[in-house]
Amino acid sequence: MAQAEAIAHRRMGLPRFQGRTVAVTGASGSLGRALLLQLDAAGAQLIALTSSDQPLLLERSSGEAVPLEQVRWSVGQEQDLSGVLARTEILVVNHGLNCHGERSPEAIQRSLEVNALSSWRLLELFAQQDHGSTPREIWINTSEAEIQAAVSPLYEISKRLQGQLLSLRSLDLARPSFRIRRLVLGPFRSALNPIGLMSADFVAREILRQAHWDLGLVIVTPNPLTYVLMPLATLSRWAYFRMVSRGA
Ligand SMILES: NC(=O)c1ccc[n+]([C@@H]2O[C@H](COP(=O)([O-])OP(=O)(O)OC[C@H]3O[C@@H](n4cnc5c(N)ncnc54)[C@H](OP(=O)(O)O)[C@@H]3O)[C@@H](O)[C@H]2O)c1
Repeated sequence: MAQAEAIAHRRMGLPRFQGRTVAVTGASGSLGRALLLQLDAAGAQLIALTSSDQPLLLERSSGEAVPLEQVRWSVGQEQDLSGVLARTEILVVNHGLNCHGERSPEAIQRSLEVNALSSWRLLELFAQQDHGSTPREIWINTSEAEIQAAVSPLYEISKRLQGQLLSLRSLDLARPSFRIRRLVLGPFRSALNPIGLMSADFVAREILRQAHWDLGLVIVTPNPLTYVLMPLATLSRWAYFRMVSRGA
């Protein structure tokens, strides 16, 4: 581990990730890369899940290459990841896209598949790997768009569906050996949002800090309303879904 990063992480105190196998989807995107770098500095073993066929090369501040296993996957073929997920302790579902102002049937299909349905399928698949022997965690990156406007109707619709499915299935899937964390992020700069206020590095650091504190609801945003509204939204959904639905 690069010395400067190791010192920074010791200061932050993140031994929770030391030696754990962490897989991240959307690995070649801005937040994917930033998370992999932070996790590497915290001593995790990395699996980069990417839909890209380009090699993913990440560098520590010392110039050393970050050791990682790169696995190619595609939306709709989640089942192919069973073998990889069997040896994963923390899965970060981070991939996503923003069709901005589009509203064509193709854009609807793409947004729902990529942002909502593949995230739900990965949740089910990863939960099946939990046999109680190894504690596992899944972190699902929804968005502030779950509850606020994002000037992109399909992004809002698909992120709301992703968040609602997560709330519904958490009623049956969350257990001591299978921890579910929801990441609710405000605007940060990336290909998906070039005018975001925060940097992906800052967001990744804050995610790791709050996950280390063992928060189930990880919020990183400059918008104070989200800190009030998001816990209320998840709590009221939990109560409503619990009251009007039942497990298999
Ligand atoms: N930027 C923001 O303001 C913001 C705010 C809140 C939440 N988020 C969420 O944060 C996550 C990461 O986004 P980002 O801002 O870092 O954007 P990004 O740089 O565009 O990264 C998103 C990554 O998702 C993967 N992806 C995109 N389309 C895909 C497809 N059809 N199939 C499979 N993978 C696909 C790609 O990674 P691979 O090529 O490696 O597969 C892509 O690089 C997303 O879920 C996004 O909704 C972003």
